[in-house]
Amino acid sequence: MIHVLFVCLGNICRSPMAEAIFQHEVNRAGLKESFVIDSAGTGGYHVGSEPHEGTLEILKENKIQAPRSVGRKIELADFENYDYVVALDTTNAGDLRRLAGLQPQAEIERLLDYVPNQSTGDVPDPYFTGDFQEAYDLISEGCVHLLSHIREQNNL
Ligand code: 4NP
Repeated sequence: MIHVLFVCLGNICRSPMAEAIFQHEVNRAGLKESFVIDSAGTGGYHVGSEPHEGTLEILKENKIQAPRSVGRKIELADFENYDYVVALDTTNAGDLRRLAGLQPQAEIERLLDYVPNQSTGDVPDPYFTGDFQEAYDLISEGCVHLLSHIREQNNL
């Protein structure tokens, strides 16, 4: 099984969106049985919360099933249990690398680092920008490339 964890700050806007879109791509590729996919936040503000309604709305518009998980905070065990810990922006990635320490078992990268020729490495936070469409477009592109990368690395 390949374990993939998406991480943003609040775990209510971007990382649950990424979790749902990535799950959708995995299902479309017929690889559902090979993956465990989840999301978490570096902050604990929304532990136990459903995803933001902006995230739920844009997923519904695009006929993508809402994520099953509710908000949770990243734990140290996640760096052992997950093969890929995927940050939504530079701040998240820095926080994750600090938490994980010097030799993390997991691959820790930003989602947009998997996109070739991407000018921005960050998915702007729609909690502050209000732009869920922008987040959706960037995350969708990132998820397609992330899945290709994982398939290549794992001969899937
Ligand atoms: P997210 O957005 O990191 O994409 O889930 C946020 C949601 C809530 C907060 C910050 C970011 N907050 O500070 O409550």
